[in-house]
Amino acid sequence: MDKVLLELKDLTKVYREGPCENKVLDKVNLKIAPGTFNVFIGPSGSGKSTLLNLIAMLDSATEGEILFEGKNILNLSEKKKAKLRLNKIGFVFQFDGLLPEFSVLENVNMPALIKGKNSKARALTLLKNLNIDTLATKLPPSLSGGEKQRAAIARALINEPLLLLADEPTGNLDSARKEQIFKDFAALAKQGIAILMVTHDIHAELYADKCYKIENGKIVLKK
Ligand SMILES: Nc1ncnc2c1ncn2[C@@H]1O[C@H](COP(=O)(O)OP(=O)(O)O)[C@@H](O)[C@H]1O
Ligand SMILES: [Mg+2]
Repeated sequence: MDKVLLELKDLTKVYREGPCENKVLDKVNLKIAPGTFNVFIGPSGSGKSTLLNLIAMLDSATEGEILFEGKNILNLSEKKKAKLRLNKIGFVFQFDGLLPEFSVLENVNMPALIKGKNSKARALTLLKNLNIDTLATKLPPSLSGGEKQRAAIARALINEPLLLLADEPTGNLDSARKEQIFKDFAALAKQGIAILMVTHDIHAELYADKCYKIENGKIVLKK
């Protein structure tokens, strides 16, 4: 692999509850290249969300390192973590998290405003690329599940992230809508964004550059 955007080194996560230990990630090593669509498939409880939350710096690792652009991000200050998330990392979750009282366009522009920038023109372009620009002035509750999820993807992209993390983004969509989201991600990867999507949907493998299985604390390359 020529370029590496993200590297996990012996990443380990153990949840302790009283005398019980649950080793969810066990010395995971992985390199992610820019502009690749990476899919992680595993059943419920296999550690998919744990993995993304660690990369998003929302939780602390038990052991190991996460290098982003060559720097370990696990021991950054909270302020630096927040800045890195805002500028370089986008998130899409199973539930869109759009603010219901703001228009689709305002929702998409919001992370730019938080950064002190108004990116309404870019927001509109993103909506257009995702084929939902006609919905720009609508309020999220009037959108379908698939449309909301695409709006959430546009919002995740507004600040031009290098990395997009998606936690079961198609979890509540029908199969046609799922396929569309997978295609959108494959196209975004071609534009240079590294995408990490976790899912239990095995069809995602068809659209991925790399597909991994999460099982018993290990991440194994399938494709
Ligand atoms: N905050 C937590 N405290 C204790 N155990 C947790 C916590 N979060 C997740 N777990 C456990 O870690 C395992 C993996 O969870 P998770 O990463 O949410 O799996 P997935 O997203 O693949 O369904 C599960 O056994 C879950 O119960
Ligand atoms: Mg999960």
